[in-house]
Amino acid sequence: PLASWNGEVMPLSEVRVSVLDRAFLFGDAIYEALRVYEGRPFLLDEHMARLRRSLDQIRIETDVDHISRRILELLERQPVRDGLIYLQVTRGEAPRTHYFPANPTEPNELIYVSPLEDDPHAEHRKTGVGVVTFDDLRWKRCDIKSVNLLGNCLAAQAAREAGCAEAILVSADGTITEGSHTSLFGVRDGAVMTAPLARNILPGITRNLVVQLANRADIPIREEPLSRDRLPEVDELFLTGTTAEVLPVTRVDDRPVGSGQPGKVTCQIAAAYRGYVA
Ligand code: PDD
Repeated sequence: PLASWNGEVMPLSEVRVSVLDRAFLFGDAIYEALRVYEGRPFLLDEHMARLRRSLDQIRIETDVDHISRRILELLERQPVRDGLIYLQVTRGEAPRTHYFPANPTEPNELIYVSPLEDDPHAEHRKTGVGVVTFDDLRWKRCDIKSVNLLGNCLAAQAAREAGCAEAILVSADGTITEGSHTSLFGVRDGAVMTAPLARNILPGITRNLVVQLANRADIPIREEPLSRDRLPEVDELFLTGTTAEVLPVTRVDDRPVGSGQPGKVTCQIAAAYRGYVA
């Protein structure tokens, strides 16, 4: 695949970066992941706004206005119908100090696109997926989309070892925040619930669209935390995310959710989402 590396289009395999880059040493970088549908980046402005916000929060001073242009340029050079765009902006390279270096290089900016098959989750939407619960080990600013993802990686690996698609993260107080790389929704008595936006979750762009689609379909939606203790009371559970789209969860830690089949409200929202993107 091709990459856009600091604005230069080149093969991804030829991109080279210094070991003194702060992303390598400290995870000092912000990223975004966007879907491409029908050859076009999906919700580009929303992703650029979240990128801007994350960069501001950790005070990486760079302009993002050129980035959407570079994404479109890359897609012209490497057209894909369905794909995933990964993009990352680091604080740059400098001798290692914990505090921000006085004279780092310009931020390093990587964009690349990977092709996906058309509708990769079609089967999972029919069967539903299993998840495991896992301690939310992450830091207190999960609203910032930083590349510090060790807590997420450990959770995702636990899911994989259990033969599950995702791990849902449980805080010390028993609240379920989100998945390792997805947002989480519950359905109870026909109403949809998802955690309120706060510093303990990522403001998911798919989450936001799903809230809008539910409103449009007159499905009641409440922003309130889900808790591990009340999981047995939910009728349906589903995950949302750029890559996952809308995915029914039918088992948590080997216990069935509701009927053990993808729920009615979940399927309605999943169909609305597919209709919206394609
Ligand atoms: N992950 N929560 C976390 C912790 C995430 O990493 C993601 C996205 C989401 C869903 O956000 P969105 O709907 O904006 O994709 C929620 C991306 C896909 C990733 O890490 O690759």
